[in-house]
Amino acid sequence: MQEKLVFATNNAHKIAEVRAILGDRRQILSLEEIGCNEEIPETAATIEGNALQKARWVSQRFDCDCFADDTGLEVEVLGGEPGVMSARYAQANGRGGGHDSTANSTLLLERMDGIANRKARFRTAIALIIAGKETIVEGVVNGSIATAPHGTDGFGYDPLFIPEGETKTFAEMSPTEKNAISHRRRATEALLKVLKDNL
Ligand code: IMP
Repeated sequence: MQEKLVFATNNAHKIAEVRAILGDRRQILSLEEIGCNEEIPETAATIEGNALQKARWVSQRFDCDCFADDTGLEVEVLGGEPGVMSARYAQANGRGGGHDSTANSTLLLERMDGIANRKARFRTAIALIIAGKETIVEGVVNGSIATAPHGTDGFGYDPLFIPEGETKTFAEMSPTEKNAISHRRRATEALLKVLKDNL
């Protein structure tokens, strides 16, 4: 029988990405599927801290094995910003509401205006709690920030991020192409390795 594992998110894109990567090795349940409709606190100062905070919150309240992720887009010339603030970058700078991808991307493009060094990376931390044991893994994809948005697939900063060695942004790639090289892919591969060791 497949063992159930809760992915502490309701982001349908992320659930689909992780299900595609893990295949039928584990049954992945979303927060909605376990009846969790509350907002989970994400108040840590780092992406690892946020991932752990979310995983602990869900595993304690729902008494389940669980993992939670947190991702940041880290831009070299901006000292790692938006980083842990990626989801609320515009809001944190007095613009628009939270989780507004268009406002976030517009602000990032403004901050990068005229800057030649466009190096950036996506970094995902995943905190896994199995039978109370905590493990943190991460996945990174290096790349650069385009000078204008391109493509309509994906979400968040995808239209601005060109992975190293590619000419297209994540938003110009098919989900399969993105999943093959993404930060979440790499973090999920690391998660899979830990899961295998725990089965
Ligand atoms: P989260 O911690 O995974 O929710 O990510 C925080 C923010 O980073 C999101 O709100 C998005 O703006 C951005 N982000 C995370 N993953 C991706 C991705 O795969 N592509 C583009 N943006 C992403």
